[in-house]
Amino acid sequence: VSAVDLCIAGASEILPFRGGDGPLVGPAFRDPEVIHDGALIVSDGKIEWVGETQGLERALAGRRPARRIDTPGRVVTPGFVDCHTHIPFARGREAEFEMRIEGKSYLEIAAAGGGILSSVRHFRETSTNDLVARGREHLTAMLRGGTTSVECKSGYGLSTEHELRALEVIRALQSGPSTLVATFLGAHAIPAEHRPDPDAYVDLVVEEMLPQVARQGIARFCDVFIEEGAFSLEQGRRILTAARDCGLLLKLHVDEFHSLGGATLAAELGAVSADHLDHVSDREMRALASAGVVAVLTPGVNTFLGTAPFAPARKLVDAGVPVALATDFNPGSCMCASMETILSLACTQLRLRPIEAIAAATRNAAHACGLGDRVGRLERGFDADILVMGVEDHRTIPYHFGTSHVELVIKGGKLVHA
Ligand code: NIG
Ligand code: FE
Repeated sequence: VSAVDLCIAGASEILPFRGGDGPLVGPAFRDPEVIHDGALIVSDGKIEWVGETQGLERALAGRRPARRIDTPGRVVTPGFVDCHTHIPFARGREAEFEMRIEGKSYLEIAAAGGGILSSVRHFRETSTNDLVARGREHLTAMLRGGTTSVECKSGYGLSTEHELRALEVIRALQSGPSTLVATFLGAHAIPAEHRPDPDAYVDLVVEEMLPQVARQGIARFCDVFIEEGAFSLEQGRRILTAARDCGLLLKLHVDEFHSLGGATLAAELGAVSADHLDHVSDREMRALASAGVVAVLTPGVNTFLGTAPFAPARKLVDAGVPVALATDFNPGSCMCASMETILSLACTQLRLRPIEAIAAATRNAAHACGLGDRVGRLERGFDADILVMGVEDHRTIPYHFGTSHVELVIKGGKLVHA
């Protein structure tokens, strides 16, 4: 019997999202379990037991927890998993923000050499140490906001040297408290020097970058931005097939501004996730559902860019597609790293109910980035990544928006923020 690191008792609600395999879909997603007057036990950095407070003494079986936290009038949830971010980046793009307010669109700014390419210029002139320091600041703020696991993408390097450097920055950030998953997004944009011959850049990604990324083992996923002005469906297929052959798992940016058929490709290739999906068709939803691809929705992007429509979240849920939420934190299309803000937008704009939104930001988000067997749930054997929220009813979390309700953040059984 293990020693008990921590026990939590008397929570007005615990949302464990436990039981079964894989992401929550259908009825299990619509109506997850809520434990009233809940308690849990953490030993060896893992969840050992979750139940009602009245069962706690029996579960402790005479052991004295090193720390006991009483949480009356508090809601306890798994730590948030932000399954789509563009950390590392060098700095913000405030000038473009203002240009958009004045009427220029995101794609117009990108076509004129701004957008992702301005972040590429910033990235290339910033030292690795500075990028690590910047990334650490972001991850620290996110941890305080309850985000205990983060997917991080390269994609502002766009040359072999700088893409590898981005992945090295992510590797360096792994020494911090957050659980990180690295994604190679060399196919984020066609860099300026390859604009005359984009296919030559695709060759470079496939023939030079991917083999080195795979050999160094510094990314778990490969992602491609399939969009007008970025990569075509055929270019995406070529890169992702090669990535799969190198042993990488797949993610795709699809249907953010235009429908190019990327969701169908995600289903065909057995991708782990398809992200954005603002323009996904009914037929493609069925393909995603049968292939078990997680739909990662990013309502922060629509809000930040002022673009409609939002992804058809309710139709995706009804079609049986597992739905997850992420910030897409990046300097161009969503300068917001707060998962609580995303929960509010998911409720008011995507029409997810509060408990569905929280499930999408925890268990389902963990499955969207290959962490579904470790984090995202309060269930025996899972990492003890736990949030104590200063609300009595979980619905208050997205309802009272624009403020953080996070009181305590526990990561791997250790209190990392109070
Ligand atoms: O997810 N879509 C492409 N990538 C980001 C935007 C990145 C940027 O503008 O720097 C996105 O929206
Ligand atoms: Fe993105």
